[in-house]
Amino acid sequence: MSAHAMKLLPISPDPRPLGKSGLHVYPIAWGMWRFAGADRKTARTRIDAALEAGITLFDTADIYGFGKSSPFGAAEALLGELLQEAPALRDRFVLATKGGIDPGVPYDSSAAYLRAACEASLTRMKVDHIDLYQIHRPDLLTHPAAVAEALAALRAEGKIGHVGVSNYLPSQLAALQAHLDFPIVTQQPEFSAWTTAPLFDGTLDQCMERGIAVLAWSPLAGGRLGLAPAEAGTAPDSARLGNLIAKLDALAEREGVSREAVALAFVLAHPARIVPIIGTQTPARIARAGEALRVKLSRADWYDILQTSMGVRLP
Ligand SMILES: NC(=O)c1ccc[n+]([C@@H]2O[C@H](COP(=O)([O-])OP(=O)(O)OC[C@H]3O[C@@H](n4cnc5c(N)ncnc54)[C@H](OP(=O)(O)O)[C@@H]3O)[C@@H](O)[C@H]2O)c1
Repeated sequence: MSAHAMKLLPISPDPRPLGKSGLHVYPIAWGMWRFAGADRKTARTRIDAALEAGITLFDTADIYGFGKSSPFGAAEALLGELLQEAPALRDRFVLATKGGIDPGVPYDSSAAYLRAACEASLTRMKVDHIDLYQIHRPDLLTHPAAVAEALAALRAEGKIGHVGVSNYLPSQLAALQAHLDFPIVTQQPEFSAWTTAPLFDGTLDQCMERGIAVLAWSPLAGGRLGLAPAEAGTAPDSARLGNLIAKLDALAEREGVSREAVALAFVLAHPARIVPIIGTQTPARIARAGEALRVKLSRADWYDILQTSMGVRLP
């Protein structure tokens, strides 16, 4: 192996640009998919842990919390209660939410739906402005010109600051952008050491081409990358998961950091300057997130993680 292979990949701790929005955020964001259902005191402890860790972007969605025990809007409503209790919190983070999933339909990004969804999000969160409004999933039945018109109107009215998409194909992003006269600032795909498709399907390339920030959802594969080796042995695709966990553990031991830190470092080291959205609701884990910024991965380490995840050696 050449000396070049051992050269360390830069993982800058500096704030990362949120596309062309002019905003910069801490390299790791915090997500509220699993936030609903907590009492206010517990919820506030999580928010405080994220802020103390230096995190400056919170990612939620109108659908977060929807399920057997809580209604549509539950995660946003809980955040709204906390913001009402402590209004000064609002200025301490970039507030990102999403609309466009209508349970049972499942998608609607028609102009009337998006307007109603966005206004309902504002009401639930008790705010008059959303910093980043993302289309949660592409609606195959709405022309991108109609989506663009709705987003432009909400932006012109000051209800939203910037626009992002999530789970869009590169072609869908391009089609929406063609009808907007301001830039889409973020794309939010699933991306982790376990789920590597955005490296190969054009998603990350398009973001680098256009200067769009990538917010990576489930950067620990929804917790799979936190499983003990014995638990991983019974998970779906257990051989691949077991190999990946063993690889991450070996690097973690070498670096003297946690396995999660290595997994997040894999995401952070990509040249698209990806911002992983961690989803833990455990304050101690939120507090430790920044450990990932100190991990030293070489080019060879990064490709080793990728090839272990893929289960094949690259040619
Ligand atoms: N756009 C989309 O379609 C979409 C879809 C899914 C998620 N998201 C966004 O991405 C965010 C993150 O997703 P995610 O929650 O799946 O992220 P994640 O960070 O991959 O997984 C978080 C889960 O892993 C567990 N976990 C974390 N560290 C662990 C460890 N060391 N050992 C064992 N378990 C561990 C957490 O448990 P504890 O909470 O108990 O610590 C939590 O249940 C969401 O909040 C949301 O904002 C977006």
